[in-house]
Amino acid sequence: MKTKLAIILCASTLLLGMQSRKTVWTGVYNDEQAARGLMVYEENCARCHGAPGGQTPSLTGNDFMDRWREDNVESLYLFIKNSMPPMRGRTVRTPLADNLYQDVMAFILKSNNFPAGSFELKPETFASIQVEGKDGPRPVPNSAFIQTVGCMTQINASTWGLTMATEPKRSRANAGATMDELKAAATMPAGTLTFRLQNVDFLGADYKPENHAGHRMQAKGILIRQPNAERIDVRSLAMVSDTCPN
Ligand code: HEC
Repeated sequence: MKTKLAIILCASTLLLGMQSRKTVWTGVYNDEQAARGLMVYEENCARCHGAPGGQTPSLTGNDFMDRWREDNVESLYLFIKNSMPPMRGRTVRTPLADNLYQDVMAFILKSNNFPAGSFELKPETFASIQVEGKDGPRPVPNSAFIQTVGCMTQINASTWGLTMATEPKRSRANAGATMDELKAAATMPAGTLTFRLQNVDFLGADYKPENHAGHRMQAKGILIRQPNAERIDVRSLAMVSDTCPN
């Protein structure tokens, strides 16, 4: 009886959790905003990205989704706001007004067939809206810039790697670990994955993985998916703790 109750309680919290989870599928912009966004797009983006639908580089479709899925709307928004339209021949890039970027974001969501809802997309919510495919979250794709947490372990004579590593997560901050990330890493349960570390000398000719043998580390870099030898082309390594969860 008690277990039954626990299961019911558990299932309903799960359901609640799922309901409050915001994704690009939960109606996060409205049609009016997307219509304004289309005008922004035609005026400022179409000359390079082409008519809505068949552009280069395309802002819709599988390749586009593979670059942005398993991330949140804020990452995409910041990329657009900080680099689009790109600088051309001028020394200072003139960005558009913020509200125009918000509207063009709504248009991009609509172009990718994510459903409209009743409210406009607002910057306060960007970080909480997950970009993902129709079937829900998936592992991040090959070549994504990622972060993971695992134990520094010698794999063979010439290779070090992270064992008991967590599922890789998208990362856009090319700089090293932040204090917040390290704090969060310290409480993460151990994972089950192994990644070989590649190009560790990117961190300096004298960087010695053996100095961190058995330490729990956060790695950032480019994920190289390969059967039996998943690797990370390392960009940063930071120590989370001097022990590994067992
Ligand atoms: C002068 C040409 C030009 C204009 C104008 C321009 N872009 Fe781009 N855009 C590019 C190029 C080139 C790339 C690919 C290189 C890169 O990622 O920096 C790109 C990449 C992008 C990407 C990333 C695509 C991907 O698959 O990851 C997005 C999103 C984007 N642009 C949005 C916009 C928006 C929105 C506007 C209008 C506000 C705009 N761009 C205007 C040239 C342009």
